[in-house]
Parts: sequence; structure tokens; C-alpha cells
Amino acid sequence: MRLKRLRDAGRAPIALTLDGAPVSAQDGDTLLTALLAGGAGHLSPNLFAQEPRAGFCHMGACQDCWVAVDGLGRVRACATPAADGMVVRRL
Ligand code: FES
Repeated sequence: MRLKRLRDAGRAPIALTLDGAPVSAQDGDTLLTALLAGGAGHLSPNLFAQEPRAGFCHMGACQDCWVAVDGLGRVRACATPAADGMVVRRL
């Protein structure tokens, strides 16, 4: 899944990594928006079906967007603000 920005595309750029690969994002993105709009494609596999997931509710309810962030531990990507320099890993 890839998100395409339709508005607010001019915010300040930030950079993070997902599993060591660079991801370009914008200040004010949630981590989920940053990863999907930045081309991550998918997050961790679903715990039960083992299929790639990209979040479902995007509002902190479904638990389908867990990732690991250095210094923060395991977080829901849709409920975590993206920050410049974040080091993110799929679980
Ligand atoms: S996408 Fe549902 S909790 Fe994050």
C-alpha cells in the first residue's frame, strides 16, 4: 500500500529509516503516514494470518500497525508522531 499526499505537501522534510532503508517524510506526519507515503509498502505481518499489513483503522483502535522505534519501544505507528532521525523496525 502506498499513500499519496493530496494536500499539505509543503511541510518541512524529515528523514527516518525503516529496517535500515531511508524514508522521506514531512514534519507533522504520523509515523504510519510517514512510512506508507514514504514508500514502505507494508508494516509487520498480521499476527494471525502472517500477511503483510499497512494498518487498518489509522486511529489507534485496531492494533494493526505495531512497529519498534529506537528509544520508544513498541508503538502503534498511527498514534505516534514521526520525528526526524527515527529508527524504525518491522516486528
Ligand atoms: S492502524 Fe489501527 S491501531 Fe494503528
